[in-house]
Amino acid sequence: MVHSPPQSRLVAARGALLGAIAVPGDKSISHRALMFSALAVGTSRIEGLLEGEDVLATAAALRAMGATIVRRDDGVWQVDGVGVGGLMQPDGALDMGNSGTSTRLLMGLVASHPITATFTGDASLSKRPMGRVIEPLSTMGADITASPGGRLPLMVRGLCPAVPIDYTLPVASAQVKSAILLAGLNTPGITRVIEPVPTRDHSERMLAGFGADLSVTETAEGRVIALRGEAELRPQAIVVPGDPSSAAFWLVAASIVPGSDVLVRNVGLNPTRTGLLTALRLMGASIEEQDPRTVGGEPVADLRVRHASLRAVEVPAELAPSMIDEYPALFVAAAFAAGTTVARGAHELRVKESDRIAAMAAALGACGVAVEEHDDGLSVTGTGGAPIAGGATIATLLDHRIAMSMAVAALHAAAPITLDDAAPVATSYPAFFATLDQLTGHRA
Ligand code: S3P
Repeated sequence: MVHSPPQSRLVAARGALLGAIAVPGDKSISHRALMFSALAVGTSRIEGLLEGEDVLATAAALRAMGATIVRRDDGVWQVDGVGVGGLMQPDGALDMGNSGTSTRLLMGLVASHPITATFTGDASLSKRPMGRVIEPLSTMGADITASPGGRLPLMVRGLCPAVPIDYTLPVASAQVKSAILLAGLNTPGITRVIEPVPTRDHSERMLAGFGADLSVTETAEGRVIALRGEAELRPQAIVVPGDPSSAAFWLVAASIVPGSDVLVRNVGLNPTRTGLLTALRLMGASIEEQDPRTVGGEPVADLRVRHASLRAVEVPAELAPSMIDEYPALFVAAAFAAGTTVARGAHELRVKESDRIAAMAAALGACGVAVEEHDDGLSVTGTGGAPIAGGATIATLLDHRIAMSMAVAALHAAAPITLDDAAPVATSYPAFFATLDQLTGHRA
């Protein structure tokens, strides 16, 4: 796949954000839409697919394993699936780029097919732990050879038929849950995943939509997801809602820049994804939900967000799974709140595209914000609404969310902030800077 070359970028304050925008399709749902469509028998159509590098990496890998995937001129993606069990041996290594979701979910897919696939990725992805999927997939029978520390590059030799397992998630991870369910699709019998702490449930919702025999039961041990294998998936017409993780940047930007008033259209509001909304409201943000509706089996609304005086809070640790990708944006909001915001219980941030605790502590600290780093989070002392100093060059560390969060911080900084590399934005939100120009009245 094509990797964007590094690209430094200066971001300066430019006044209030005003207007109505739509965010791109949800990344998690886009990956799953392609994967389940590739496993269905027949032709699926996907509207609103996120055309970011991460999702394109998933599409390329599925093509390499036999699915036919085309983007029509009207922007709809059409997928001719091979059927569960029908994936073919890829010719070369599967290049996952920056995408942990592509890697972990596709490892699950390969694990129960009679094929062998090598997974490679960029410098960020090659540092991320894969042991969390290697362990359950090996128990199902896959033979996985990883680089030291359970990292990429690694090779998965699938077993067919694989062995169904009952697996209690040791970390709250939708990627691990989904990898096991994907492996379970081509495994005889019932594969069960027990999640003590609920994580995003897009796989469960979408698998049910594709006709899989799947049940979800709440028990004292947590949510039990049971999937009957050797499934037959029926092709679907899917509409992907807008990504709340991309909307997050505008929710924070409009909240911190005086005079802002932004309507973010078509935002997915699945309750497993709305932790940031809850946290920002606790901080006093003005966010109004308009026109609530259902899109593609997911709750959706338009969000009107206006500038507000934010106050510091202790971010409830139980929100972590439902806002795990939004902490960098939340830390930026905290930098403008009155008082010290404490966000803990988010240890997983250390193993994302970068160590997001260390990355945001360094980035905000360099911009004059008082931060204290904890092993599982950050304390951030805000300005009470005044601009931060800014004026620093930020290492974005191949992490799109660090780049976009610090671009947002720059919108209310006394001196411009330089992102050493803004190219990672293309993994999840290629139009981010164009949308920023739109909201601030500049031409792209
Ligand atoms: C994702 C799950 C989350 C999230 C990632 C996307 C998914 O990771 O951070 O960006 O699509 O399943 P974990 O499940 O590992 O926490």
